[in-house]
Amino acid sequence: LFSHSAYDEHELVHFVRDVDSGLRGIIAVHSSALGPGAGGCRMWNYASEDAALQDVLRLSRGMSYKNAMANLPLGGGKAVILGDARQDKSEALFEAFGRAVNGLAGQYVTAEDVGVCEADMQIVARHTRYVSGLPQNGDAAGGDPSPKTALGVFCGIQAAVSASLRRQDLDGLRVAVQGLGNVGRHLCALLHEAGARLWVADIDDEAVAQVCQRFDATPVAVDEILYQDVDVLAPCALGGVLHSDSIPRLQARIVAGAANNQLLRDADGQRLFERGILYAPDYVINAGGIISCSAEYIGGLSAAEVDARVADIGPRLAEIFQRSQREKHPPNEIADALARDKLGRSS
Ligand code: NAI
Repeated sequence: LFSHSAYDEHELVHFVRDVDSGLRGIIAVHSSALGPGAGGCRMWNYASEDAALQDVLRLSRGMSYKNAMANLPLGGGKAVILGDARQDKSEALFEAFGRAVNGLAGQYVTAEDVGVCEADMQIVARHTRYVSGLPQNGDAAGGDPSPKTALGVFCGIQAAVSASLRRQDLDGLRVAVQGLGNVGRHLCALLHEAGARLWVADIDDEAVAQVCQRFDATPVAVDEILYQDVDVLAPCALGGVLHSDSIPRLQARIVAGAANNQLLRDADGQRLFERGILYAPDYVINAGGIISCSAEYIGGLSAAEVDARVADIGPRLAEIFQRSQREKHPPNEIADALARDKLGRSS
């Protein structure tokens, strides 16, 4: 177990087992250099325990980079619960998870991620204060992070369109959105409002039907959405979609979406760069949700101030795109170097 090279960069990997509720989970803290390890909890039916471990390690590293690049006083952490979110959820399961988070005494701060919603976090909050993404009253900052993630992705798409297509508006822009969950459908709403034309796919037919009806989108088969003849591809489902097989078949000029770990390998960023496809590094463009959670957890910002900080994602990406052009390195490598610098790490 200890020779697993994926652990090398991490400060803490905590395995959680609760027999009564059936909870099997892993909490990982990659870095606490800038603050407590903060990042959402994902519930997913992993093919194996090793797949769950790999996912939580990669996601928690991504959170360190994301929080550092968003200038938040937070380190990077993540949790995964092994199970099917549609069948295996129970109050007892999230209560047990809340106790596990509390046992780490603030080293890890949780929130929602794929498969986990606000109601689940309310159960977690019965047992720990190291939780964010809880429903808020009135004008308070925080709550469900997904709309803020979508807002950040929208601002990132504007920055990418300006850098790559030299246009300032999104009217008539053709965008393919993969995944119409909490973030994807909010993103579709913002894009539709800005006049973009949408092509969409999800494994959930009902989600597709709703988005097509509300935002006049065109449905596309799940295995074809990446390869549409569009200006922007926005991956908003799971990670690992950009790799040696998919990249040569892309037609979009820009890849800018919410999914974490979109590149299967770091080298896939170079592949996109060589094809002249502008890639918005995932952990920079999708930081809106954690910016909101951070404001909720730490306090001191109004909802309007949170929106302004989320909108800063646009100029931050514009700077990365400019450096990428100037230094002839892919944007993901520029972002990784900046993040590692902020974390004081060489690798
Ligand atoms: P979600 O679980 O609400 O939505 C994901 C959607 O993707 C679901 O509707 C699912 O049916 C669909 N999907 C799964 N596999 C698919 C496939 N092969 N093709 C098409 N659709 C597929 O998750 P959420 O919260 O919307 O997150 C989406 C992505 O954004 C995830 O990678 C997540 O880690 C990332 N993210 C989310 C944040 C948030 O605030 N919710 C913050 C930062 C990143």
